[in-house]
Amino acid sequence: MSADFQVPVLDPGGQAPPHTLFLFGATGDLARRKLLPALYSLFLDRRLPDAFAIIGVARTNLNDDRFRDQVCDAIRTFGRHPAARDDTLAAFLRRIRYAPVDVRNPEDFSRLNDLAAALEREQDLPGNRLFYLALAPDFFAPVARQLGQSGLAKTRGWRRLVIEKPFGHDQASAAALNDALREVFEEEEIYRIDHYLGKEMVQNIEVLRFANSVFEPLWNNRAIANVQITSSETVGVENRAGYYETAGALRDMVQNHMLQMVMMVAMEPPSRLKMEAIRDEKVKVLRSLRRYTPEEAVHHVVRGQYTAGRVLGQEVAGYREEPGVPAGSITETFVAARLYIDNFRWAGVPFYLRTGKRMAAKATEIVIQFRDMPKDVYFNTEGRLGPNLLVIRVNPQEGVYIQLNAKHPGTDERIVPIAMEFSQEPDRSPEAYERLLWDAMQGDSTFFTRWDEVSLAWKFVDPVAEAFHRANMPLHLYQAGSWGPSASDRLLAEDGFRWWPVQGQENPADTPEPEHHPAHPVRAR
Ligand code: BG6
Repeated sequence: MSADFQVPVLDPGGQAPPHTLFLFGATGDLARRKLLPALYSLFLDRRLPDAFAIIGVARTNLNDDRFRDQVCDAIRTFGRHPAARDDTLAAFLRRIRYAPVDVRNPEDFSRLNDLAAALEREQDLPGNRLFYLALAPDFFAPVARQLGQSGLAKTRGWRRLVIEKPFGHDQASAAALNDALREVFEEEEIYRIDHYLGKEMVQNIEVLRFANSVFEPLWNNRAIANVQITSSETVGVENRAGYYETAGALRDMVQNHMLQMVMMVAMEPPSRLKMEAIRDEKVKVLRSLRRYTPEEAVHHVVRGQYTAGRVLGQEVAGYREEPGVPAGSITETFVAARLYIDNFRWAGVPFYLRTGKRMAAKATEIVIQFRDMPKDVYFNTEGRLGPNLLVIRVNPQEGVYIQLNAKHPGTDERIVPIAMEFSQEPDRSPEAYERLLWDAMQGDSTFFTRWDEVSLAWKFVDPVAEAFHRANMPLHLYQAGSWGPSASDRLLAEDGFRWWPVQGQENPADTPEPEHHPAHPVRAR
C-alpha cells in the first residue's frame, strides 16, 4: 500500500533578510560539496534577498574570479541544480567576493572588515552579518576572538555565528570552547550545526508525532517495546584519519547525530512550537538519559573496527591499513549501545543505537517496535505474529512505513506482514544544509544545538569514552561489508530483541535468523 502524496518542497515566497555571509573555509571540502551548492539552491528558490553578499574567506591566495571559478565548479559537480542556466549562475556569482585571510594575522581581519564595510555601503546592506565557520575545530575559538577584536562582530545590524561540529572533544574542552565564543557572541547568536537536524525526515519526526493523534497515545512504555536507531555507512575513514583517530564513531556520530535522533523521538510535546520550547523539551531527554559509569558502559556499549572486506562489490582495506591510520589503532569505527531514558514515559524501554563505517549499506533509520499483542489469538499456529513496527526512513529513501499483520488474500489462512508506506522522492527534498543555512539567515535556531544539549551529550559520552581505554572493553573486529560485529546482535538478544533489517539489508541471510521474522508468514488455525 502506498500513500500517494508529496511533501511540498520549501514553500514559495519568503526571503531571508538582507545580509552579508562570511564563509570561512571557503575553499574546503564542506564548502565545495555542501555549502556553496546549498547557497546556490537557495538563490534559485528565490530565498536569498536582493541585497545580499557572500565573502569567501580562506588562507589560499585567490582573487574574486579564481574563487568564482571554484564556486562554479562546486555547483556543477555537487549541486541539486547542476544544469542551471548560465545567466542565472552568473547572477549568483556576481554576489560573491573572496578575501584571503590567515587566521593568525589580525591585519587580515581588519582588511576583511574594510572590505565588508565597503560592500555594505555600495550595496546598501544593513550590516547584518552571518559568520559561517566551516573550519577545523582548532580555529573556532581563535577566529571568534579575531571577529571580536577586528570589529567585524561589532556591526550595525544582527550578527550570528554558525559553527560546525565537532564542538569540543569532551565536556571540558567543549566548555572551554563555549566560553571563548561567549566572550564575543551571546548564546542566541551561536548556531551549532548538527546536519542531521536539517534532514527532512528528522524534522518530520516532530510533525508525525505532534500532528497525528494516532501516535501520541501509543508513544510510551506501555505500547512500545524498544526503539532502534541505525546510521550505517559504506564509506570508510576516507582521507580523514587525522581527525577520526581523535574522534572515533562515538564522538563522530553518537555524541551528536545519534543523540539528536534520540531526543527527537523521545521528547515531550512542547507547549508551543517555538524554538526555545522545543529545545527545552529536547534537553530534558538528555537530563533523563541514564549516564553509565565506565564500569557499566562495558555492559551496554559495543565497539568495533572494520577489517578488509567487500563493500558494494569492491574489495576494501581494513581500518588499520587506511592511509594515516597507525597499524595498532584501537579507534572504533562502529558503536552499538543500549540507552535508557529514566522518565515516566520511557522507563524500561531500551533505545538501541548503532552506527558504523564500511557497513553493507548506507542507511539511516529509526524503528519503533510496538509491544506484542497481550493475547495472541492465533496461538495455535506455527510461530508467532510479528510485532507492529513504525519505521522512519531518513536516508537514502525518505519516508515512513507501518508494518501490520494481515490476512493473506485468497482462501488460505496465512497471516502476512504488510507495510503501509509513504515514501518521498529524495531529490525533491532540499539538502540539510539548505534548510539550516536558511534557518540561520532567518534567525530560527530550532534545529541547531543549544549549549546545554551539547554539554549534557558530552556528559553521557565521556564515561563511555573512558571505558574505551580500559582493558576489559573488547574491540570487536567486523568485516567491511557486514552489519557490524555479532556482539551488537547479542546486545539486543540479551533483551529478547533483534535488529530489524534496514534499507539495503533485505536479504535475511545477512542477519541471524530472527525468532519471528516478518518475512516468514505464520499459519492461522
Ligand atoms: C558527519 C561525520 O558528521 O556525518 C562523518 O563526521 C559521517 O563521519 C557523516 O560520514 C554522515 O552524514 P550523512 O548525512 O552522510 O549520514
